[in-house]
Amino acid sequence: MPDQLDVLIDNATITRRVAELARAIEEDHSDVTVVLIGILKGSFHFLSDLSRHLRIDSEVDFLQASSYGNSRESSGVVQIRKDIDIDITGRHVVLVEDIVDTGTTINHLRDLFAVRAPASIRVAALLSKPSAHRVETLIDYVGFEIPNVFVVGYGLDDAERFRNLPYIAVVRNSERSESSA
Ligand code: PRP
Repeated sequence: MPDQLDVLIDNATITRRVAELARAIEEDHSDVTVVLIGILKGSFHFLSDLSRHLRIDSEVDFLQASSYGNSRESSGVVQIRKDIDIDITGRHVVLVEDIVDTGTTINHLRDLFAVRAPASIRVAALLSKPSAHRVETLIDYVGFEIPNVFVVGYGLDDAERFRNLPYIAVVRNSERSESSA
């Protein structure tokens, strides 16, 4: 049976919330240039929309991390496939994530960047699944807290499918398990 998609968060709701997150980031970085670091691949829509809402000076870079591959279960091992180009020493950094699921990826990346001595490091996540967190996870800007269901769209994939959807959806009627990002 083909996968069915149930819309969980529509595009208009995402757009409104992303604008609110941009206001919160502006308040915390009113007199500095913020370095937005998008965590690929999943964050590409979120970073794009968030950066266009910001009314402060910003720079953009990308890091590619992967711990799921084509699985719906985290491997628990975060692979860095592409590092950033910008030197973040003394800079004000915001890591931009599509989703914090177990918390493994974002905690690993916070530690990775902290040793590079930025002036500050904060995390913006469009989605968070509090009931799925396996480690204590600090997220400074959260778009939406969602239940522990498998979601796709707005950058999030199921074995690379559905990243293009402009909304967040729950996949139904799939034969695969529904436990993770
Ligand atoms: C996803 C997502 C986050 C991470 C969250 O990345 O984009 O980076 O998993 O899961 P966690 O909190 O359990 O670590 P994924 O490894 O699927 O790579 P992708 O963004 O390229 O799809």
